[in-house]
Amino acid sequence: MEINHIFIVGAGTMGSGIAQVAAVSGFQVSVMDVIPEQLERARSIIAKSTEKLAAKDMIDQQQLAAAANIRYIEDFKTLAQADYVIEAATENPELKLKIFTELDHLTEPDVILASNTSSISLTKIAAATNKPEKVIGMHFFNPVPLMRLVEIIRGLATSDETTATAVDLAKKMGKEPVEANDSPGFISNRVLCPMINEAIFALQEGIGTAEAIDAVMKLGMNHPMGPLTLCDLIGLDVVLFVMEVLQRDLGDDKYRPAPLLRKMVDAGYLGRKTGKGFYEY
Ligand code: 3HC
Repeated sequence: MEINHIFIVGAGTMGSGIAQVAAVSGFQVSVMDVIPEQLERARSIIAKSTEKLAAKDMIDQQQLAAAANIRYIEDFKTLAQADYVIEAATENPELKLKIFTELDHLTEPDVILASNTSSISLTKIAAATNKPEKVIGMHFFNPVPLMRLVEIIRGLATSDETTATAVDLAKKMGKEPVEANDSPGFISNRVLCPMINEAIFALQEGIGTAEAIDAVMKLGMNHPMGPLTLCDLIGLDVVLFVMEVLQRDLGDDKYRPAPLLRKMVDAGYLGRKTGKGFYEY
């Protein structure tokens, strides 16, 4: 089936980034969110990002115009016209399962339903639908317009055809797809989040300041940003959620979230999106 129209569910940081990349790659794009302010925020983030990329000749005027043509909508009314769906809603299992049940009812049987989940089992998400062979994980990375990876995760029932289509779509969006098994945190967050969590333990134990911990990883390991700066970018709530999934689903306390991480999330210090995390913005 030819893919022309991609429908993105969720206009947060990831949803808007995915929408932008899909639009500049030549697809017709609709982004749906139930919160109107979130849609306005996405429109402004996409405009700023594409103007910046155009100023650096990383995209041309036609691509800039394509991004300005993204449709921002508050309901599923146009979902029936979609050829492919990418869900990027909040990382909440109940919400995702509910959304997938609804997507299943409102899309044609051959339409693939992809999820940008960072840690929830694709097998479980797929089981909320009547077409588990059409459900797949497409895990993008923040900031989506600049990061090259898309992690592709098959659920137990995902078909070869669905996987091939998702891999092909990721390539058409200018990304490099890498397959990972449906295991908690997949490859990316199984490795990344424990590293960030350990950096938070180091901060909590006074081994170094936030600046020192970040400097060590930047200057000594050539990471583009230190783990605490990265945690602020990803969102402290997201890192906490992933650590809880790893600890619970792998049954190993080596994945216990740092108490400081939990405390900061309780305080509402979620990183860049709230203006305060390990640093102030
Ligand atoms: N759109 C357009 N331009 C952008 C942008 C965006 N969304 N985000 C940053 N830029 C631009 C900046 O404005 C800057 O432009 P300038 O040089 O003209 O000022 C340029 O990119 C470079 O940015 P910076 O100078 O701020 O910093 P860097 O050179 O360090 O590059 C970075 C930024 C690409 C984000 C780099 O720091 C990096 O790769 N960091 C690591 C990011 C990472 O690990 N992401 C994965 C997170 S994990 C995840 O998302 C999965 C989830 O499940 C947890």
